[in-house]
Amino acid sequence: MLLNVKYSNAMMSKRLKEVSSLDIYQNRSTLKYVVLIVALIIGTASIYYTNRLVDDLKGREQELIQLYANTLEYAANENNSDNLIFIFQEIIVANNTIPVISTDAQGNPTLDKNVDLPEGISEQEREQLLRKELKIMKQEHEPIEITLRYSNGEVYDYQYVYYKNSYLLRQLQYYPYVQLTVIAVFGVLAYIAFSYSKTAEQNRVWVGLAKETAHQLGTPLSSLMAWVEYFKSEPKLAEMGITEELGKDIKKLEMITARFSNIGSVPILKQERLYDVVQATISYLQPRISTKVRIEVHEESPGITAAINKPLFDWVIENLCKNAVDAMSGIGKIDVNISKGSEGKVYIDVTDNGKGMNKSSLKRVFQPGFTTKKRGWGLGLTLVKRIVENYHQGKIIVKSSVVDEGTTFRIVLRT
Ligand SMILES: Nc1ncnc2c1ncn2[C@@H]1O[C@H](COP(=O)(O)OP(=O)(O)OP(=O)(O)O)[C@@H](O)[C@H]1O
Ligand SMILES: [Mg+2]
Repeated sequence: MLLNVKYSNAMMSKRLKEVSSLDIYQNRSTLKYVVLIVALIIGTASIYYTNRLVDDLKGREQELIQLYANTLEYAANENNSDNLIFIFQEIIVANNTIPVISTDAQGNPTLDKNVDLPEGISEQEREQLLRKELKIMKQEHEPIEITLRYSNGEVYDYQYVYYKNSYLLRQLQYYPYVQLTVIAVFGVLAYIAFSYSKTAEQNRVWVGLAKETAHQLGTPLSSLMAWVEYFKSEPKLAEMGITEELGKDIKKLEMITARFSNIGSVPILKQERLYDVVQATISYLQPRISTKVRIEVHEESPGITAAINKPLFDWVIENLCKNAVDAMSGIGKIDVNISKGSEGKVYIDVTDNGKGMNKSSLKRVFQPGFTTKKRGWGLGLTLVKRIVENYHQGKIIVKSSVVDEGTTFRIVLRT
């Protein structure tokens, strides 16, 4: 019967192992990279495509200005006024998007079109603004030269046509950056909202499961207590020491129920002397672990206190010490140091001289499901972190860990 129970426990643990070996966290970080790469590809493709459109449009605008310049040249050298009117109507007036200024050979503006100038300014101001605009245009494109000739073909003067990109083209250049920024901001906001709702859901599962467990344990526990009371009145059973052993097991079950019930509700924190609380947990643990592992508690100065929930804090110390014992294959020493930090902080350092952790383990110790043990669940440190951070507003870190030398976990609480 006992064998059967052991066997099915082992089977269950194996099966659950297989499930956890799916390792959702590993998949999640791969997914993150995939999303990032796809986003980068989309961003680059969008910028590339718009740049091509911009280049296309730029080419067309250049052609249009070339035509405009040719027209001016033709008009200046043409004597037939009918042709001139046609050219003026069809080509010069038709350009109503590209800002252009033509100048004489000395660079004085003679004609301008589509240049944004304020209304009602004096001639002088107008010329000043046009000269300023000319400088900008010069930086953007080389001016087009117009050659003026007599009817016999002899050159007598030059003119220049300056221009810059149209408003539409300028807008199109910035468009993908604006668009991608908007999408990125939206993406970040969506990610924050998503992870917030995910954390809220996880909290509900933890709390719900813990509450239910405490609730379910409650009924058989009170029944067991009644039985023990009955056994106490039976001198035969009392003599055999059965009641005493049962009493111990019930105490342990009560402790477990208290832990789950505290995790399932808003825990009450009380100022406690940490040395006493830790010492009590160690006294409970010491006889249950290898005799070759020594656990010592030190207090930097007497009477260091912190606001804690005792059943939950016991659980934290127990988990850390159990991990430390596991890390040192039977022989070693664990030190729990309680000290005061700056700004009302209290440190509880749990140091072992076990096998330590490598870098990749260090990164993942607090992830649910991460374990290097054959029979581990990888939940001990997840629970510890939750209790310290969510229930005590504290912090837990791996202060140091050196392979084959040992590890120190540090809990930071407030007085
Ligand atoms: N003191 C330590 N020294 C070395 N490695 C450690 C130590 N504490 C934790 N680890 C590593 O971190 C892993 C996760 O620890 P955690 O307590 O979360 O899970 P576990 O002990 O493997 O399983 P369980 O759920 O039963 O506690 C361990 O498997 C171990 O590899
Ligand atoms: Mg553990």
